[in-house]
Amino acid sequence: MSTSNPAPSGRFSLAGQTALVTGSSRGIGLASARALAEQGAKVILNGRTRQTLADAAAGLRQAGLDIIEAPFDASNIDESIATVDRLTDEHGPIQIFMANAAMQHRESLLTFPQKKFEEVLALNLTAQWALGRHLAAQMVQHQYGRIIVTGSVTALQGRSDITAYTVAKAGLHALARQWAVELSPHNITVNAVAPGYIATEFNEPLQNDDRFNQWLFDRVPQKKWGRPEDIANAVCYLASREASFVTGQTLAVDGGFTTAL
Ligand SMILES: NC(=O)c1ccc[n+]([C@@H]2O[C@H](COP(=O)([O-])OP(=O)(O)OC[C@H]3O[C@@H](n4cnc5c(N)ncnc54)[C@H](OP(=O)(O)O)[C@@H]3O)[C@@H](O)[C@H]2O)c1
Repeated sequence: MSTSNPAPSGRFSLAGQTALVTGSSRGIGLASARALAEQGAKVILNGRTRQTLADAAAGLRQAGLDIIEAPFDASNIDESIATVDRLTDEHGPIQIFMANAAMQHRESLLTFPQKKFEEVLALNLTAQWALGRHLAAQMVQHQYGRIIVTGSVTALQGRSDITAYTVAKAGLHALARQWAVELSPHNITVNAVAPGYIATEFNEPLQNDDRFNQWLFDRVPQKKWGRPEDIANAVCYLASREASFVTGQTLAVDGGFTTAL
């Protein structure tokens, strides 16, 4: 089976580049990995469940895309860094990093356990910071890079029961701004995508909740759930050489959710 990419040349081509997307065996990460690979990048696919990861990788390879599997738990910083170092030794430097793995825990602030709060922040913010910093150091050596963090519209608006998640996502939006300033001299851009409500396994209970759907369709001007591909398209743009003058931004991809009162 061929693993050679179509490697489109011309505008928005990512031919010759390697991308790492954490949390990419399904959902937004998988759609983004596919889109980056379709633009010509070699893509490192990540997730904890080996079989899901292998199935996702097989599906992409069947489409002729150049995929490397990297099973690791992104909350384990030492394991993540060791895996990435091994892969860069084998395959060369990573130019595009999408920090996407995250977890959710819904509970009232009155009972939210501190241990759970710390666990959510450890994966959603600290681990993204640590792996991102490690990769940023490599990008500085090569004087080129694109870092994209997956934020959330819930970090731009208030919502009950998910403080740990939104605090971490707001931290990622801030990280994109801070790093954009610090890394600009090195030809590295850092941006956040803030997905609105995107239909994935992450929020399956909400998709099946009639009251939530009613609220969503009243609240979102486009009156629909987004698709993982909607985020992937924005990621491809931010990952491209053509987006070189765009940095430190949080791009909401949300069907108008954050623009409407
Ligand atoms: N869906 C939405 O409406 C929405 C809205 C705003 C923001 N987001 C953000 O978008 C990102 C992706 O969400 P999604 O909806 O695509 O989720 P999803 O469908 O549940 O997919 C999550 C992916 O991440 C992997 N993963 C989870 N924990 C991991 C860990 N510790 N280490 C490595 N991989 C891990 C999962 O595989 P394994 O379980 O096998 O590890 C899976 O591949 C997240 O950052 C989320 O916060 C989503």
